Amino acid sequence: MSSTNRGTERNADDYYVTPHWLIEDFLAAFSENCRFIFDPEEGPIVLDPSAGGCNKYEMSYPTVLEKHDFTVDSWDIREDSRAKFKGRDFLSIDPTYTPAYQIIITNPPFNVAQEFTEHALKMVPNGGLVIMLQRLNWLGSQKRKPMWQKLPLAAVYVHSKRPGFDPLKPSKTDSTEYAHFVFCKGYELAPELFVI
Ligand SMILES: C[S@@+](CC[C@H](N)C(=O)[O-])C[C@H]1O[C@@H](n2cnc3c(N)ncnc32)[C@H](O)[C@@H]1O
Repeated sequence: MSSTNRGTERNADDYYVTPHWLIEDFLAAFSENCRFIFDPEEGPIVLDPSAGGCNKYEMSYPTVLEKHDFTVDSWDIREDSRAKFKGRDFLSIDPTYTPAYQIIITNPPFNVAQEFTEHALKMVPNGGLVIMLQRLNWLGSQKRKPMWQKLPLAAVYVHSKRPGFDPLKPSKTDSTEYAHFVFCKGYELAPELFVI
């Protein structure tokens, strides 16, 4: 997602490129604080269900995560993405017929971020993580209050440095702050807050 173009036309399929440094910053903080344990023997560990990429740019999350030795599956609805499975609508995939991904992480299309989160939570096993990059004000609004009362939010990693989502203009930052929201299936405690 990106709020840069608010009021104007959004990119087709809400395609924006997450800067790699933002993911690196998140992973560095997350690995310091993470109390979750993953077993590589249990099969594919990570899924990016809206992985992006195109003829010009790599898929941001898979590229960075693979550098850190994660095994990553990638899907995207666009045929011109670089995902392993292109033309795949994440929301139409039956969650019971997928491998048990232990982590689902992405920058989802803004308008269906809640649906993506709920669908991803159906795909991970108990204790599995769903991590979404969203605007910090995703936490707000009366409309979303019921969502925050039911979803198992475990941690929020607030990025103090604003990202930009246009690789051609790396110094042009977005008009708002972003955070990685970490949900843990079955988590019942209060969420933790990290400002990074
Ligand atoms: C905000 S972009 C993020 C791309 C990439 N994850 C990144 O961080 O650079 C959202 C991506 O979601 C894909 N997308 C949109 N709707 C989708 C759906 N229903 N299922 C799977 N991918 C979808 C778009 O094609 C686009 O690549």
